[in-house]
Amino acid sequence: MNKVVVITGASSGLGLSHAIFLTYKGYTVFGTSRKETLDKDLLKQLFLQDHTQWKFVNKEKTKVKAGKILAPKELLNQLDTLIAKITYFKMDVTSDSSVKEAISEMEEKAKAINNHGIDILINNAGIGFFGSVEDLSMEEWKQTFDINFFGMLRVIRAILPFMFARGSGQIINTSSLGGFVAIPYQTHYSAAKAAVKILSEGLNMELKSFNIKVSALLPSDINTSFNINTYKLTKETNESLTSIDLEKMLANPPIEKNSRHYAFAKRVWKVIVQNLIVSPPPLVVSRKIAKILRRKNPKISYQAGSFEQKFLISLIRRIFPDTFNYTMLAKYYGL
Ligand SMILES: NC(=O)c1ccc[n+]([C@@H]2O[C@H](COP(=O)([O-])OP(=O)(O)OC[C@H]3O[C@@H](n4cnc5c(N)ncnc54)[C@H](OP(=O)(O)O)[C@@H]3O)[C@@H](O)[C@H]2O)c1
Repeated sequence: MNKVVVITGASSGLGLSHAIFLTYKGYTVFGTSRKETLDKDLLKQLFLQDHTQWKFVNKEKTKVKAGKILAPKELLNQLDTLIAKITYFKMDVTSDSSVKEAISEMEEKAKAINNHGIDILINNAGIGFFGSVEDLSMEEWKQTFDINFFGMLRVIRAILPFMFARGSGQIINTSSLGGFVAIPYQTHYSAAKAAVKILSEGLNMELKSFNIKVSALLPSDINTSFNINTYKLTKETNESLTSIDLEKMLANPPIEKNSRHYAFAKRVWKVIVQNLIVSPPPLVVSRKIAKILRRKNPKISYQAGSFEQKFLISLIRRIFPDTFNYTMLAKYYGL
């Protein structure tokens, strides 16, 4: 097929899963990461961990045991080959020059492969801190928007001239169900993801006439290292942790003990950490992306992941008034 897909943040979690799955489906995948080099064995380990079904083994839900691996056998048999086929490029989405250089290099490489250039962009790189609106510094607020929102915008602006020149293209921006409803103590993240959703909706209308399709993707909680990375980022630590070290993450929540929000935020952190580990594997979202790419006329936005979250968050929100919804949500988080 020789369609070239660029996936930002393809070194772990959702991006890595999309990269592996789309390679499996026959696309040529260019993945990006800030890292100079990536250890392919580590990528394999990360993929397998994210696709392990975890079950709580104690009442406090602080320990998990592994169930089966939730990925098709044929894909697992080819995993090493699929990972080896992904070409990685260094790109920091917070830097204009890094984005421009990486996109130009990828466009050149894509042209050498298919004669026309990058066909599809999956804007996926993203981060989150944990903390109250009050406690997070302005720097942390700005960083959240710089990566999650302006980062996606930078990549779009760098890639669009090539898509305009060719008269076609497709862009999928990763928002979140957390961009549809606010998550307490991740309000900064929800705000940035809501901005990504609106950006996608506006772009969809502006680019329609140029044959460039744009959709927003809103995943539910998905079992990735996102919370580990949130923990490390907020605590500014390099501790070697994996997403299954629940006891450690719950015992030392990423909140200052002297914060007036400590007791409330600690409860919310527990729910967030527990939720992610038993949430669906990234392949659920990668499959959705493959479906979107097959559609002639993709929709303006897609939800993906856990049925319960999609149902509760989007359907109930449409039916009941916000006061009711947010009262229930606050209760759910123990607030
Ligand atoms: N997991 C969920 O429950 C969930 C739900 C809804 C939406 N999402 C969204 O899905 C996307 C992927 O999340 P994930 O769960 O897969 O998290 P993850 O495992 O932490 O992956 C984040 C990716 O973003 C990249 N990244 C971070 N900062 C970057 C920067 N400045 N420049 C370039 N790349 C950067 C990381 O690559 P390097 O560190 O190698 O640079 C990594 O590959 C995010 O946008 C997230 O908000 C996740």
